[in-house]
Amino acid sequence: MYCAAVLTVSDRSFRGERPDEGGPLVAEILKNAGYEVVRTAIVPDEQAQIEEKLRQIADSGEVQLLVTTGGTGFAPRDVTPEATLAVCDRLTPGIPEAMRYASMQVTSRAMLSRAQAGIRKGTLIINLPGSPKAAKENLEAVLPALSHGLEMLSGRPADCAKLTG
Ligand code: MTE
Repeated sequence: MYCAAVLTVSDRSFRGERPDEGGPLVAEILKNAGYEVVRTAIVPDEQAQIEEKLRQIADSGEVQLLVTTGGTGFAPRDVTPEATLAVCDRLTPGIPEAMRYASMQVTSRAMLSRAQAGIRKGTLIINLPGSPKAAKENLEAVLPALSHGLEMLSGRPADCAKLTG
């Protein structure tokens, strides 16, 4: 079993003006997939605060997976991808490629998500869009393959040939 954290990035949810629907939905999907969601948090669309929280959670060593929701679009305050790039040691471009590929079957607007994913120390960080529907569709597109990646990240022996799906 892997431990996960969910970080909601939203000015309005941070200020309490709009209930956070995306974060709890992402946490629910992760729990149903066998992850233990040990941390959830909300930050505003401020790059420095997003970076600080990403570093804090990843460096705690508590979670193997850190999923963000929100702030991946074109609005001037959408800076979650920039914060993610700033804190990652290595990028995992196949994950956002797969999310956008799958999402393009649903809506051509999927190309408007600038989501990134990468590794900081022992934690895989994945950006999801902000709307609950988009977050769910993107996460479900990559979830089946994640445990194999986390297994490799943890340094445990993983046989790629035997693990499919
Ligand atoms: N991906 C899926 N699967 N379904 C969606 O409805 N919405 C898109 C895109 N990705 C969408 C999607 C839209 S309209 C935008 S603007 C971007 O995600 C970025 O969303 P964000 O700014 O909430 O992060």
